Amino acid sequence: MNLLVVGGGGREHAIIKKLKENPSVNTIYALPGNGGIAADAVCVPEIGAKDIAKIVDFAKSHSIDFAVVAPDDPLALGCVDRLHEAGIPCFGPDAKAARIEASKVFSKNLMKKYGIPTARYEVFDDPARALAYLRTASFPIVVKADGLALGKGVLIPQNLQEAEAAVKSIMEDKAFGDSGNEIVIEEFLTGPEVSVLAFTDGTAIAPMVSSMDHKRAGDGDTGLNTGGMGTVAPNPCYTPEVAAACMEKIFLPTLAAMRAEGCPFKGCLYFGLMLTPDGPKVIEYNCRFGDPETQVVLPLLKTDLLTVMRAVKSETLGDLTVEWHDGAAACVILASGGYPGNYPKGKEITVPEDLPGNVTVYHAGDKLAEDGKLVTSGGRVLGVTAVGDTLESALKDAYAAAERIAFEGKYLRRDIGKRALAALEG
Ligand code: AMP
Ligand code: GLY
Repeated sequence: MNLLVVGGGGREHAIIKKLKENPSVNTIYALPGNGGIAADAVCVPEIGAKDIAKIVDFAKSHSIDFAVVAPDDPLALGCVDRLHEAGIPCFGPDAKAARIEASKVFSKNLMKKYGIPTARYEVFDDPARALAYLRTASFPIVVKADGLALGKGVLIPQNLQEAEAAVKSIMEDKAFGDSGNEIVIEEFLTGPEVSVLAFTDGTAIAPMVSSMDHKRAGDGDTGLNTGGMGTVAPNPCYTPEVAAACMEKIFLPTLAAMRAEGCPFKGCLYFGLMLTPDGPKVIEYNCRFGDPETQVVLPLLKTDLLTVMRAVKSETLGDLTVEWHDGAAACVILASGGYPGNYPKGKEITVPEDLPGNVTVYHAGDKLAEDGKLVTSGGRVLGVTAVGDTLESALKDAYAAAERIAFEGKYLRRDIGKRALAALEG
């Protein structure tokens, strides 16, 4: 079989490495892919993840048997709809279902209508009314741009002055473009955060191993929000009791709600949860695999990934038992110095060839220079994942490998997994 994966980050590298384990896979094409992915797939740097027409043409002309659309933008733009129209089977939600991530107003209204636990909220399309509301609110409060904003569209003002600045930046200065035409203002919730990715064919659901992201740039959860500086799986806060409550009150009701709205969700649905004193609540949905959650979740998947994805496509997931390895995984992101602000590019990367067998380096922001050398080209450059019998051993091995990888300005958080270890001891 020939496969096509749309995207070019660490998440896509993790998906590709897992798909390659299936013996019936011949060639995997990555559009656009990246420097490190080129060791595992045929990369096509000229075709970006948002070039929907070119992606469809490529799939038709390269006898693609199955496609995986990984990033949010092409999903929201209808890449899966167009591929299906062209007769190419693929994994991922159609554009209507992708609204669960692409529009916070859609997802909040869905949760309200179907009684799915989430933060209380109001929607505004007029900055003056938003400001009037904020003058009566208590702080901190949460202000979210409606649309996709590279994970940066959530602001948590601590007082009225910051809240006014947040509304101005999103709605008037259009910091996130048209994504800020409408905003959601919601109640500030507290509690441990858990990410649960789940395979679903619209009716059946197979939750993956839970995980914990580390979104802030600095140690101790300080500094700016990033796409994610590291992850661990499983998340020790996600006990079997919490999992059962989430299944009953959140996962199954969400699938039923999407069916009832005429847009059944088929693909990977990402539940961003907060375990509040009043029980688990949805912070956000994503219509795709998380990054860097995928880099700790898929290494623990025992069942063949392509088999699971095809069962999602054919709506037979309920007939399949999706199995997971025991143990744990940890991923430490190596970023370019300066990220998530400005950072240099083109720095040569050296990855030792004798890393231990339980360590995998997922390439996110790099490319092959003209002389064939691997150089940095993005903020998050590499994700170093280790699997182990315990979280402690996985973290130790991921950090040991991360130390041995070099590029100028390499930056990493030193405390990935610290909170999870404390919770395990807790
Ligand atoms: P999101 O992009 O929706 O994942 O939001 C980014 C981060 O903002 C989340 O991971 C939470 O840490 C935080 N956040 C979002 N919504 C809330 C909320 N209602 N209460 C507290 N924190 C929140
Ligand atoms: N790591 C968070 C996300 O993928 O949205």
